[in-house]
Amino acid sequence: MSCRVAVLVSGRGSNLQSIIDKSKSREIDAEVAVVLSDNKEAFALARARKAGIEAHYIDPEVTKPVLIGNAEDNYINTLKEYKVDLVCLAGFMRIVKEKIIAEFKWKMMNIHPSLLPSFKGLHVQKKALDYGVRFAGATVHFVTGDVDGGPIILQAVVPVYQDDTEESLSSRILKEEHRIYPEAIDLFSKNKLKIKDNRVFIEGDDGK
Ligand code: GRF
Repeated sequence: MSCRVAVLVSGRGSNLQSIIDKSKSREIDAEVAVVLSDNKEAFALARARKAGIEAHYIDPEVTKPVLIGNAEDNYINTLKEYKVDLVCLAGFMRIVKEKIIAEFKWKMMNIHPSLLPSFKGLHVQKKALDYGVRFAGATVHFVTGDVDGGPIILQAVVPVYQDDTEESLSSRILKEEHRIYPEAIDLFSKNKLKIKDNRVFIEGDDGK
């Protein structure tokens, strides 16, 4: 059975687009049931509507970059209304708190443009360049109360070149994001992800 996915977004929505495209072409076993945003102007909302997917702006009610209180309840209730099996944060610029995480325990994922646990937080491609790492990448992980710290599902590595700018490195990483996020969703949908302690084991894949 195809998994019903909600995607939470705040901006451009290129990850959302890759999830929509790969679900529509049946490359992955998932269907985007709803898209929610804390930003009325998010281009991601237009992408969803263009694809015929219901998309709602839900007022975050606070200026701090967190999802709390009444707004958190509104998100939870809407996600329940749409009977989603999985919640994917894709450029959702708010820290999610205990209540929504508990509602969707091990059913909430995030994509982050670094090789976690290196470079948590914002502007991480610049942090990677400034640090001088030779390799950067992207991580899909389960969401826990530890921001950018939940169990890792998939990662992709890209080289960092001497003449890279924040833009060139970001776009190399983004290409990988668009590949691994749908893949992680597909693994979840096929019930192939098992969590033990802080590790995610992928059924049928010994990693060799
Ligand atoms: C991506 O780089 C993602 O990893 C980060 O925010 C960015 C969102 O981009 N969390 P988009 O909105 O999916 O294009």
